[in-house]
Amino acid sequence: MSLSLDKSDISTRIGKLTSIADLEALRISYLGKKGLITLEMKSLSSLNVEDKKIKGQKLNEFKNFLEKELLIKKNLLENLVVNEKIKKEKIDVTLPSRDYQSGKIHPISQSIFKIIDIFSAMGFSVESGPDIESDFNNFTALNIPSHHPAREMQDTFYLDSNNSHEEKVLRTHTSPVQVRTMLNSKPPIRIIVPGRTYRSDSDSTHTPMFHQVEGLLIDQSSTMAHLKGCLVDFLKDFFEIDNLNYRFRPSYFPFTEPSAEMDVAFTKKNNVIKIGEGDQWLEILGCGMVNPKVLENCKIDSKKFQGFAFGMGIERLSMLKYGITDMRGFFNSDFRWLNHYGFNPLDLSTISGI
Ligand code: DAH
Repeated sequence: MSLSLDKSDISTRIGKLTSIADLEALRISYLGKKGLITLEMKSLSSLNVEDKKIKGQKLNEFKNFLEKELLIKKNLLENLVVNEKIKKEKIDVTLPSRDYQSGKIHPISQSIFKIIDIFSAMGFSVESGPDIESDFNNFTALNIPSHHPAREMQDTFYLDSNNSHEEKVLRTHTSPVQVRTMLNSKPPIRIIVPGRTYRSDSDSTHTPMFHQVEGLLIDQSSTMAHLKGCLVDFLKDFFEIDNLNYRFRPSYFPFTEPSAEMDVAFTKKNNVIKIGEGDQWLEILGCGMVNPKVLENCKIDSKKFQGFAFGMGIERLSMLKYGITDMRGFFNSDFRWLNHYGFNPLDLSTISGI
């Protein structure tokens, strides 16, 4: 079919098109590299100025018209295709929905979110450190020199130290992050450190890898009373028990002086532990005022600064809060266990700030 530059002619032709492929062919025959308009435009150069102006204007006008008409027709044809498709498709609303399995939040993660939530409201920020630690950070700086009997308190995994001058360990507690933070920043310091820790131990209440959360506060005036208030507030909030019955018991840690352990009261009925009340005591955390020796080891002036620290096991807290009796279940990767004890992702919305 011959091509013309007549508007009504081209309108009729476009009107008759029934497919997007035909529309594209027509577009190319006019606007493609060798299309009529392209060639006509090229030939303008051989005309004199006056003719060039008149013909150029006409060509442009036709080109704009054509482009507009093509676009309108293209939308129309595309709509037709969609409408045809919709007409043919039927949705059977009586079909059963497809089965899907949503993931669950592990109780340890849920507890960590909650712990962070509570302490950040008290102005603590979150720090972390490596699982493989130097002997210095894990022990020496924390006032546990080699051959000190306190090293026996923790069954340490030592790493091969062939190529290094210093012994490396899998950190036995989160306390080395205290050292890292004090060496790298200046007081005031107010941090918590949730993280993995390792000890060579395995039974129903111990696994070789477990989690702790460490706390450290250093400033010029904080006392044991602040430590007590902070921990009591935390436990009340974590266990959601207003009149929690607790006690602080004198204890010993090389890195704190004085040191204490905190117990919460509990009762056991039908093998289920109920915490907060009763006449039995359950040890829940260790704490104390940071030993001035540790401050000095970490280049902090112990005449000017003081503070407190605490550490607790996240599995223990989670077992008590969620009624889990065997610690090994946390790390067996059994999906049935996670389905039972895990949390729906939306449960996170009950934790403010997330
Ligand atoms: N690091 C201790 C442990 O793993 C726990 C601990 C006790 C941490 C007292 C502290 C503390 O910061 O002050 O048994």
